[in-house]
Amino acid sequence: MAFRSKEGVWLAGSWLGLCKVRALGTSAALGAKAVLPFEAIPQCAGNKWLRVLQIWKERGQENLHLQMHRAFQELGPIFRYEVGRTQIVSVMLPEDAEKLHQMESLQPWRQPLEPWMVYREHRGQKPLGVFLLNGAEWRFNRLRLNPVVLSGKAVQKFIPMVDEVARDFSEALKKKVLQNSRGSLTLDAQTSIFHYTIEASNFALFGERLGLFGPHQNAGSLKFIHALEAMFQSTAQLMFLPKSLSRWMSSQVWQEHFQAWDYISEYANNCIQKVHQELARSFPQDYSGIVADLIFQGDLSLDAIKANTIELTAGSVDTTAFPLVMTLFELARNPNVQEALRQESLAAEASISANPQRAPSELPLLRAALKETLRLYPVGSILERTTSSDLVLQNYHIPAGVLKSFQVETLVQEDVKLVYHFVLRPASCPLLTFRPVN
Ligand code: HEM
Repeated sequence: MAFRSKEGVWLAGSWLGLCKVRALGTSAALGAKAVLPFEAIPQCAGNKWLRVLQIWKERGQENLHLQMHRAFQELGPIFRYEVGRTQIVSVMLPEDAEKLHQMESLQPWRQPLEPWMVYREHRGQKPLGVFLLNGAEWRFNRLRLNPVVLSGKAVQKFIPMVDEVARDFSEALKKKVLQNSRGSLTLDAQTSIFHYTIEASNFALFGERLGLFGPHQNAGSLKFIHALEAMFQSTAQLMFLPKSLSRWMSSQVWQEHFQAWDYISEYANNCIQKVHQELARSFPQDYSGIVADLIFQGDLSLDAIKANTIELTAGSVDTTAFPLVMTLFELARNPNVQEALRQESLAAEASISANPQRAPSELPLLRAALKETLRLYPVGSILERTTSSDLVLQNYHIPAGVLKSFQVETLVQEDVKLVYHFVLRPASCPLLTFRPVN
C-alpha cells in the first residue's frame, strides 16, 4: 500500500533499481516508545529527478513490484521515497493497512491519475467516473453504483450472464480440442482468455453477446484488446512525469495514450447508446445488465452513467483476464490441486446448473484458488491513499495529506515474470495444453 503525505505522494518506482537503499534512523526505532518524526522513516537513497529521467528513459517501470519488494526487505515494513515532486510512503503490513482504513473518512482521497485526467480535460469529457473522482462527487457516484455493480445482490443478478459466457467458452474450447488430431490443444491462451473476459464483461454491462468464440478473429475485439494494452502501458510511462516535461519528452507516448482512450471511449459509448435506444423503445421485463439497471434506477445523469461505464469497460477486462491466465498456469503446475478442484466442481455440478448463483458458496476450494492467485500475482498491485489527518505507523509520525471438463498442462516449470504496466501482468503467457478428461 502506498500513500502520500503533505507534499503529495503516490507509488514506488524503478529508481529503486538505480539507487542503493539507505536506512535512516532505524536504530532509534528499536525499543523507543517516543514517536519518531516523519524524516526518520527509512528512505530510499537517490535523486528524485533522476528517477523521473529513468522512467522516461526506460519507457515505464516494468520492475516496480520487484524493486518495492527489495526495498521492503532492505528497509523494513515502512519506507519513503520521492519521485519528481511526489513524496511517497509505502507500507505492507496488514496492521498498517488496517490503521489507514480505520482513519479513512467517508471520502477517502486518491491522487488523481494525471494522464487519464488530461485526456478527459482535452476531450471535454465531463463529468468523471468514480475511478477519477474524489470527495463528495466520488461518494455521490459510488453510493449509486454500489447497489447495481458491487453489492452481493447486484453480483447475484449478473452471475447467470457470466455463467452462460463461461459455459460457451468451455464448449468452444472443447470443439477446438476435438478438432485437433492429437486430441489436445496447446496454445498461448491469452487472446482466448481476453475474448472470454470481454464477452463476459460486455454481457454483464450491456446485456449483449458479442459472439467472440466463433471461428473467425473479430477485428473489433482485437483492436479493443490492443487499445487497453496501449492505454495501461502509456499510463505507467506518463504517470510520474510532470505534464510540462512529458509533453515534449514523450509526445509520442501522449499520442498513443490519447488514441487508446479515444478507441476505448468510442467503443463504450456505442454500447451505451445502443442500450439507451433500446430502453427508449421498450423496457425489458427481466434483468438486462448493469447499464440498463443504472439507467432504470435514474439516480445518475446519462453523462455520469457514461463516464462510469467507460471506466468499468476499461477496468473489467485485464483485471479478470490476467488472474485467470495465472490460475490456469498454477493449476497446470499443481495437478493435485487441479484434481481437487475438478472433484469439487463435479460434486456441485447439478446444483450449480440448476442455480448458477450458488457457484460462489458451493465452490469454496475454487474461491480459495482464485484468492491465492491474486495473492501470488496481484493484478492491482498497489492500493493508494492520501491521508487526511496525522497518524502514527510503525512508531513514525505521518503528517496529514499523505473449467471443469479439461485438464490443463504446461511444460513450463519456471515462474512467470511479471511486468508493471499500471496493471501487473505476465511478461509473456506460458503455453498451456488443454486435454479433455474422460
Ligand atoms: C480480480 C479482479 C479485480 C481486481 C484485483 C480489482 C481491484 C480493484 C482495486 C485495487 C480497486 C481500488 C480500491 C480502492 O482504492 O479502495 C478497485 C476498485 C473498483 N473496482 Fe475493481 N478489481 C477487479 C475487478 C473489477 C471488475 C470486474 C469490476 C467491474 C465490472 C470492478 C469494478 C470496480 C469498481 C466500481 C471500483 C470502485 C472504484 C472507486 O470507487 O473508486 N473491478 N478494484
